Amino acid sequence: MNSNLNSPPWVGAPVPGETVDRLLYASRSCVQGPVFKEMHRIRDHALQRNVADNVYAALSYQAGWFMEWMEGPSAGIQAVMRRLERDPRHRDLRVVHHSRGPRRLPEPWSMALRKDHEDPGDFERRLVALSESAGQQRLEPASVWRRLSMPLRGSGAAGRKESDLYQRVMVCSARGTQSFELVRWLGQAHHCKVTSQRLAGAQDNDVANDYVDVDGGPGAMLRRVVAMARNGLHIGLFQAFLPDYSHLVLLLCGDSKHDVDLINILVSACSRLSHRPVLLGLGGPGCDHAALRAVARNGGLVYLDCDVSDTADAKALWAAAEPALDFSRTTNSQW
Ligand SMILES: Cc1cc2nc3c(=O)[nH]c(=O)nc-3n(C[C@H](O)[C@H](O)[C@H](O)COP(=O)(O)O)c2cc1C
Repeated sequence: MNSNLNSPPWVGAPVPGETVDRLLYASRSCVQGPVFKEMHRIRDHALQRNVADNVYAALSYQAGWFMEWMEGPSAGIQAVMRRLERDPRHRDLRVVHHSRGPRRLPEPWSMALRKDHEDPGDFERRLVALSESAGQQRLEPASVWRRLSMPLRGSGAAGRKESDLYQRVMVCSARGTQSFELVRWLGQAHHCKVTSQRLAGAQDNDVANDYVDVDGGPGAMLRRVVAMARNGLHIGLFQAFLPDYSHLVLLLCGDSKHDVDLINILVSACSRLSHRPVLLGLGGPGCDHAALRAVARNGGLVYLDCDVSDTADAKALWAAAEPALDFSRTTNSQW
């Protein structure tokens, strides 16, 4: 973790070569009332107990089910599991994944709440199917998490549900909420449902995170476009998935302070990654791409620039971005 992201002192960078237990379980929620409020209470407690055991965790809630992904020493994980088994706020706990490997969660705590209306029975069916196939496919915990908590949607998703083979693109605005408007527009233009999540890290308030799965047509790869709030870029769960993005699309505002700040945050977030997404800067006339490219390049990131005639128009933004995303398909292998 990079100190530029204002990390609290107890956050340490993963130790190179360190191997830990990675465990992922799902359980039915018995929480009456606002679940995210209860997750904040769990966070306060877990942060003290987990950190003492060097266990990092991400907790999600969707479709009436909790899911938690933990990474740490075996004894620490077992201690958390013993505490969890006695907790009346959930039941029917099932371990979906257990392996040893490198840490991927860079922060002790993250949490996410998916706001849609998946039926608990449908989630359970996906859970059972994935548990049966996860071992054979030797899935990494991040893949198990992604498939369960953020399943593919949209017309191109049918038949591809068990695959990670789709392009992931993040959109973030240097100022304002244009990234969310772009995702909303994509949903309308492609008749696809936008999924909304709330995300929070170890200390802060939650932020919005919307995504849409867009089918680019016959022969084209399915693409997930994720709008992320600027103040959510330091959240461990988001950073754990950063290597999966082919591109980070930056909606620049033309004010160099804000634009440079955004690039610096992403440089910090990507600094420990071996695979780094390509930055695609979308700016109006007068945007200083050369200066932004220099900041990105100094931080080890590739910066592609795109001029947009009207940065307030989602359709114009996407028309400028999409060819660049397609072009780089030939150069990026890690989707
Ligand atoms: C879905 C869910 C996830 C939880 N995750 C954690 C966790 O990661 N770490 C933790 O210490 N407690 C966690 N808790 C709380 C524990 O179940 C338990 O209430 C608490 O650790 C008991 O602490 P105590 O031994 O101090 O009484 C979680 C509870 C729920 C319902």
